[in-house]
Amino acid sequence: MSEKRVAMVSGASRGIGAAIAARLLEAGWRVSLGVRNPERLSPSAGDRLVCRYDAMDAASEKRWMEETIARFGRLDGLVLNAGIMIPKTVLEASEEDFDTTFAVNVKSPMRLAQLAWPHLEKAPAGRVVTLSSLSGKRVKSPGSSLYALSKFAVLALSHGLRQCGKESGVRATVICPSYVATDMGLALTSPDPATLTQPEDIAKIVHMVLDLPKTASISEIPVHYSVEDCY
Ligand SMILES: NC(=O)c1ccc[n+]([C@@H]2O[C@H](COP(=O)([O-])OP(=O)(O)OC[C@H]3O[C@@H](n4cnc5c(N)ncnc54)[C@H](OP(=O)(O)O)[C@@H]3O)[C@@H](O)[C@H]2O)c1
Repeated sequence: MSEKRVAMVSGASRGIGAAIAARLLEAGWRVSLGVRNPERLSPSAGDRLVCRYDAMDAASEKRWMEETIARFGRLDGLVLNAGIMIPKTVLEASEEDFDTTFAVNVKSPMRLAQLAWPHLEKAPAGRVVTLSSLSGKRVKSPGSSLYALSKFAVLALSHGLRQCGKESGVRATVICPSYVATDMGLALTSPDPATLTQPEDIAKIVHMVLDLPKTASISEIPVHYSVEDCY
């Protein structure tokens, strides 16, 4: 078995996920990118595997896991990054808005963690890093409240995984950014993108967390592009 560690990154086609994949590859990891449209990315080569993953299609999660293990033979890190934001209040949201938001932001991450767990337990230092949001810590506006519901839930998923890994040494960390300069972040706010947290900044944090020993377990990392009252 190769010594090189292996990470799976969901939603690695653009934004934060693409930055995480690039950073890990540069640092010598082997990376399996889970994306909805693999044909839009350059094809798999060397340490970079591109697989189809759609959070709305549970069968694609299983295939992505199988393809990753078949290609690399191990899994050290799972990065639960893919996510959506429907800018509706909890009063406006339809059942469909709720179901879609929870399917992508909560249910699929939970299924992926379940599939990955046995492999992470076999790894010398299995890690799960989840992208929640500061909207998973506080509700800042009416329009972010549906999204916040799901981000509170996925924050709890990460804490649940952290508890599950206590004995085996699999560590789970949740990252909670404010606005990041990606398609999602820029659609929601108007400041100069250069003043926001950059996707590469989040990638640096994820890389650091994946590298930490099990004796330096970090449960949550809130990240703000400026300074907020609490965060
Ligand atoms: N940007 C921010 O300000 C911010 C702040 C806090 C937290 N976050 C969180 O950080 C994570 C990444 O956000 P981002 O800013 O990079 O967003 P983004 O630029 O909108 O990218 C979202 C990623 O998720 C993927 N995705 C969406 N729906 C999917 C589905 N059904 N199945 C598989 N992949 C799907 C997208 O794939 P396609 O390319 O196929 O659409 C894309 O790769 C999300 O969980 C988000 O909630 C973002």
